[in-house]
Amino acid sequence: MNSNYRKVHVVGNWKMHKTPIEAAEFMKALKDIMPKTRNFEAGVCMPAVNISNARRAARDMRVNVGAENCNANRIGAYTGEVSAEMLASAGCKYVIIGHSERRALGETDDDVNAKVKAVLNAGMHPIVCVGETLRQRENDAALDVVATQAKIALADIPARVMGSVIFAYEPIWAIGAEASATPSQAQEVCHHIRRIIRNKYQADGGGTVSRKVSILYGGSLSEENAADFFANPDIDGALVGTASLDAKRFSEILHIASRMNIKPEPKRKKKAK
Ligand code: PGA
Repeated sequence: MNSNYRKVHVVGNWKMHKTPIEAAEFMKALKDIMPKTRNFEAGVCMPAVNISNARRAARDMRVNVGAENCNANRIGAYTGEVSAEMLASAGCKYVIIGHSERRALGETDDDVNAKVKAVLNAGMHPIVCVGETLRQRENDAALDVVATQAKIALADIPARVMGSVIFAYEPIWAIGAEASATPSQAQEVCHHIRRIIRNKYQADGGGTVSRKVSILYGGSLSEENAADFFANPDIDGALVGTASLDAKRFSEILHIASRMNIKPEPKRKKKAK
């Protein structure tokens, strides 16, 4: 984490879990136990039908609500789809884009790029998921796979909006698995993503652009291993699946993030003698 330059985000991904009533109950349970500090952003991405209930229940809480997907088109004959603009007007702050479970349903890197643009145009943060399969890791291809996914996701995205883009490195083999990636594997890939952003935006002052982008880790992150991930300089939070379904477990992860992301005291001016 490096909160001098960028925000820390800890975001739940409920996938296809919870009804609107259960979503509201989760928020009520979280309210009393979550940290009161303001040094990081907390959020939960959820099925679209839960968004308004969750938002209402979280009215006076510091928890953002997000969606898990959107359609790249603004409006039209796309039965069953939801646009980014609809999600924004329902109160979403985040939209997860390119999760491996959606890529497995046929979503391509170009689809991801179109959706990232739609989410940015609607004024929200896309959480762009990238990650390799076990076979790709075993073949030493993890960094190349992630680089390709990240570069295509960012095609034609101008430097000036990059502060709104969030990445999540989610190795597919670590999602819903018995073990997560190791913190050093995650740090290596998150650092690589930052390097790709720096190189891509070289003409716009690449280092400044890449320092602003929050890069999260996701894949069996829990209250037990979160601190080890957050201790790394290029890991700016987490995308949390299973452990975000339980308000108590999710709150513990939020507490860990808030303890580790202590902002330095502002320097006091010396009094003139
Ligand atoms: P997990 O899911 O925490 O259950 O591994 C993470 C994700 O898929 O975003």
